[in-house]
Amino acid sequence: MKALLTGHTHGLGAALADALLAREVRVLGLSRGRAPERAALQQVALDLADSAALATWLAGDTLSEFLAGAGQVMLINNAGTLGPVKPPGRQSAPALAQAVALNVAAPLMLADALIAASPAAHDRRIAHVSSGAARTPYAGWSVYCATKAALDQHARAAALDAPAGCRIVSVAPGVIDTAMQAQIRATPDSDFPNRARFETLQRDGSLWSPADAAARFVDHLLSPQFGDEAVVDLRMLYAAR
Ligand SMILES: NC(=O)c1ccc[n+]([C@@H]2O[C@H](COP(=O)([O-])OP(=O)(O)OC[C@H]3O[C@@H](n4cnc5c(N)ncnc54)[C@H](OP(=O)(O)O)[C@@H]3O)[C@@H](O)[C@H]2O)c1
Repeated sequence: MKALLTGHTHGLGAALADALLAREVRVLGLSRGRAPERAALQQVALDLADSAALATWLAGDTLSEFLAGAGQVMLINNAGTLGPVKPPGRQSAPALAQAVALNVAAPLMLADALIAASPAAHDRRIAHVSSGAARTPYAGWSVYCATKAALDQHARAAALDAPAGCRIVSVAPGVIDTAMQAQIRATPDSDFPNRARFETLQRDGSLWSPADAAARFVDHLLSPQFGDEAVVDLRMLYAAR
């Protein structure tokens, strides 16, 4: 088994890399930085918010060489940003464009490339890392909500096109104790009126650790049920058990 994983250096992505490697999945990580070297982890430093740089990388051979010979291949589109946390009118064009490129263009480009580069694989699984914000609107998060909702709808539509053996799911991973949560708690109330709720979640010990979230994510990714629903929320899946 081989997995292409974005944002593997920190937070949920680092824990996903650990969980996949522990299950003997070979991982190709794409992030701007690098994680500590490990056997079975190949890394490429790439700014996924730079769509032209990503297109150039995809035109090369690294992805097809990595996937060669694998019967089961996976893509986890994990890298993401909150983007500008502000109401429209104060978001700024460059910050908006960067967030859309990272949160939407890169996952869609990588999904397309993975399917094209793995015709011999009998089992292909693509997971977008979405958010509850795709499904519930929050003031201050219009860019984040819209970009994550785009991933949900991409999974629903692409599932209709998917070749046999290819499944695609947009997964909300729960609320996880990462740098992104610290960034949320540090946002001024004037930009993100819902900030106090996230402080309460942390104070009450309600955040999932990255390791717990990653274990649940990978359990679902590798399960026979993966692909039954194009849009899932790990909190609902685990509450139902
Ligand atoms: N934390 C939560 O509570 C939560 C809840 C719902 C959904 N999510 C989603 O889960 C995913 C991971 O979130 P997280 O909390 O683990 O975030 P994080 O701690 O901020 O980590 C983000 C990861 O993405 C990579 N990344 C960021 N910008 C990049 C870029 N331009 N190009 C390439 N890689 C980039 C970072 O690596 P480099 O800095 O090395 O590039 C890092 O490995 C995101 O899609 C997020 O929206 C998180």
